Amino acid sequence: MSADATAEEVIHAVAVIATKRGGHELSDAQIAWMVDGYTRGEVAPEQMSALLMAICLRGMNRREIATWTQAMIDSGRRLDLSGLRRDGKPLTTVDKHSTGGVGDKITLPLTPLVASFGVAVPQLSGRGLGHTGGTLDKLESIRGWRAELTTEEMFARLEEVGAVICAAGADLAPADRKLYALRDVTGTVESIPLLASSIMSKKIAEGTAALVLDVKTGSGAFLPNEDDARELASTMVELGLDAGVDTRALITDMSVPLGRAVGNAVEVAESLEVLAGGGPADVVELTLALAREMLDAAGLTDADPAEHLANGRAMDVWRAMISAQGGDPDAPLPVARLRDDLTADTDGVVTEVDARAVGDAAWQAGGGRSKPGESVAAEAGVIVHVRPGDRVRAGQPLFTLHTQDEHRIPGARACLRRAVRIEPGTEAPDAVDSDTGASATRPLIIDRVRFTR
Ligand code: URA
Repeated sequence: MSADATAEEVIHAVAVIATKRGGHELSDAQIAWMVDGYTRGEVAPEQMSALLMAICLRGMNRREIATWTQAMIDSGRRLDLSGLRRDGKPLTTVDKHSTGGVGDKITLPLTPLVASFGVAVPQLSGRGLGHTGGTLDKLESIRGWRAELTTEEMFARLEEVGAVICAAGADLAPADRKLYALRDVTGTVESIPLLASSIMSKKIAEGTAALVLDVKTGSGAFLPNEDDARELASTMVELGLDAGVDTRALITDMSVPLGRAVGNAVEVAESLEVLAGGGPADVVELTLALAREMLDAAGLTDADPAEHLANGRAMDVWRAMISAQGGDPDAPLPVARLRDDLTADTDGVVTEVDARAVGDAAWQAGGGRSKPGESVAAEAGVIVHVRPGDRVRAGQPLFTLHTQDEHRIPGARACLRRAVRIEPGTEAPDAVDSDTGASATRPLIIDRVRFTR
């Protein structure tokens, strides 16, 4: 089947699947027909599953990915944020998207921080699935806070406060909603074309003028290998630019959890530390790096985001943002009924704190869900006390598990046991992981992907 099949061709799902299974290009018409048919319930889930697996194994070229992304955008509504105004002046919009990781709470301090410079930040976020956390689950630890807003409410919050974090409406890329649910149960999440089109269809449909992507690499990321992360980043940046969105990306390390807190309420608490001018160095570094990219994309090249963490302006916007969505920024966060320390067996130096295993532990503790719609425990999570390179003594706490349910402790402890490696001696050898490219000395911010057109 050629890539330039005409609109008159008669398309059959089985023929489309066989084309990709054979390693051939799909035509634009075939892609549009399959995505539309599946969204409307006319292509069966087993047929779409087969096509997704063929795409996972055979890949798609840039034209196919662009067409697939467009078909997902066309399945719903594309928002227009160009009419947003404050004091009669147009508002610039900039969003950020992370490909997902462990302890990745950056959206929480970043959104109000960037908005504190007068930029509108429309953060349409998701819920956690598997070992990665979800921004909406974290924010729902705050008493009264509401994730579901109408489009009109979202526009109003952007004009009044400048910052909004909410669930994407059902009419925004509905094809992605159905496809993502299917990918999740068919082992087809980890595919560069499918990841890129899923993320970018939602971001383009959301209507933001500019977008900064945080593409994770390392054990806690969807694509652990650094070369794959680079390919995902450049694919998404090109998709964004082609759609008229000023898009750039940072490639960042996710072999170690970000910060000390992994879970829901515990991550909100750590984000508040950052907004108060403190917090773990890695969370602050990444928040500031992404804020600088976003402000640069908004044309504010001289803005210094560190100033607004130090002088409380970012915290003021946080409080306004939480209150505007029904939350009480002064309410105490929920705390776990049970705490359990995992301690070092021997003296030595920590050579590994594996992000994936810590994410699994937080999930086992009750912080995550195994299928869409399940509830999560706001109190559950893990506090990480050590980082690679730290010297420890036998008996010293490495992690503290937070949970509501003692039955969850053994499974979560088993994950934490395999998360940490302690070797004799006083210095961490800088071994490079041959699968992912990670090492103890790899910087947090590995690279920046920006194309000029
Ligand atoms: N996030 C998305 O929006 N889509 C994916 O496929 C994976 C993570």
